[in-house]
Amino acid sequence: MAKNKNNQAIWSMRIKKNVSKLFEEVGSSIDIDKKLYKEDLRGSKVHVEMLFKQKIISFKIKNKIIYGLDKIEKEISKKNFKFSKKDEDIHMNIEKRLLEIIGEDAGYVHTARSRNDQVITDLKIWLKKDTLNIEKKLNKIIKTTLQLSEKNIKTIMPGFTHLKNAQALSFGHYLMAYVEMLNRDKKRFLNNLENLNENPLGVSALTGTSFNIDRNYTSKKLGFKHPTNNSVDTVSDRDFVLDYLYCSSVCLMHISRIAEELIIWYSDAFKLIQLDDKVLTGSSIMPQKKNPDILEYLRGKCGSVYGNLFSMLTIMKGLPLSYFKDLQDDKILIFTTSEILNNCLELLDEILKNLRPDKKRMLALAKKGYISATDFADYLVKNFSLSFREAYKKTSALVNLAEKKGKRLDELDFKDLKKIEPRINKDVTKVFNLENSVNSKKSYGGTSFENVKKMISKYKKII
Ligand code: ARG
Repeated sequence: MAKNKNNQAIWSMRIKKNVSKLFEEVGSSIDIDKKLYKEDLRGSKVHVEMLFKQKIISFKIKNKIIYGLDKIEKEISKKNFKFSKKDEDIHMNIEKRLLEIIGEDAGYVHTARSRNDQVITDLKIWLKKDTLNIEKKLNKIIKTTLQLSEKNIKTIMPGFTHLKNAQALSFGHYLMAYVEMLNRDKKRFLNNLENLNENPLGVSALTGTSFNIDRNYTSKKLGFKHPTNNSVDTVSDRDFVLDYLYCSSVCLMHISRIAEELIIWYSDAFKLIQLDDKVLTGSSIMPQKKNPDILEYLRGKCGSVYGNLFSMLTIMKGLPLSYFKDLQDDKILIFTTSEILNNCLELLDEILKNLRPDKKRMLALAKKGYISATDFADYLVKNFSLSFREAYKKTSALVNLAEKKGKRLDELDFKDLKKIEPRINKDVTKVFNLENSVNSKKSYGGTSFENVKKMISKYKKII
């Protein structure tokens, strides 16, 4: 076996002193990027297969390297691998160990590549997998929401604007709004796959390589669609990182809005929903408390992820092409974001599975705030050929009258209604019925029961 130089840095011929301890501590990324070990090993194996196919390395050396890489894989997965900060990152830790295992032939593994293309190849493979995991989790929440929605097509609740009662709607329809949001998140993540499917491997440090490599081969073997087009852009580009962080931010912003809404509905003031004890916590001093801590956790978590998006945007700003150490921070931002997002998706699913609407309270609240005023205005337009603005004025007068008398619109005497519009007849009372109100919104995308039912089955088919 060749002399084992495993105590020296790869560049020790050129850089004669050990790097300052201080920098070794902060400059090393191994604690973070060891997460990429599987992707890195897979990339290296495909790379040496290609080098052999292209007659750049011999059969014997290729096999030796693959043997060493397989051994390293076992060591890492069995936690028998000693990661060292001295060797900076996952790429050099693996190459260093390969040298220990197979000797100087390990040196062939880095022919026609650089850590610059290696690291983004690993990261893209990792992100593709994570994107598909996120898709699965979003599908799961969508399914849970569809089930809850299906049970509540006819549950009537107040719809709010400005948190004031606006118009009555189906709780099922309301939940389908969540489905739309989550489905857009899914599409947004999946849109990233096109860029993630471009293979960086082989652009080497920044210019490409003079070796006769086959980038189409490595693309195919690593599950990419095709190689990237420009070597300089490839090692400089972190748009795919920003895309992921942006998609995660939007998804967590949605989760935060949903959480906030549920917190309000769960509050003692609203009491529109009940939550199972499983998703509630108590207070150390107030024995009566059942707090929605998990929802508050979900509401807050987008803060850290927005921070990650802004960190990456700021790192990229003003950075000349091509590779700089600044880029190394992309991985911690990706990994922490992924952990937060994946947790929050699971938690949201759990919350939705443990939530029940208080149908009585929903209906009681929906009856407040003159919620059918717009229905009355529409009735006047349809029956007496009034312009909407005229009908709006008459309805305002009706609401003022009801307010003065301290009554709901449906409690007013028929003669009071006649004062507003003498031509109306008794069938007007129908418009104050909330079920009729909800069911009358048959325009595409509206809240009528039939619409909600159709939308649920449409989604059930595509999920
Ligand atoms: N650990 C490095 C990173 O994550 C890999 C690329 C290093 N390249 C270099 N020229 N120093 O960015």
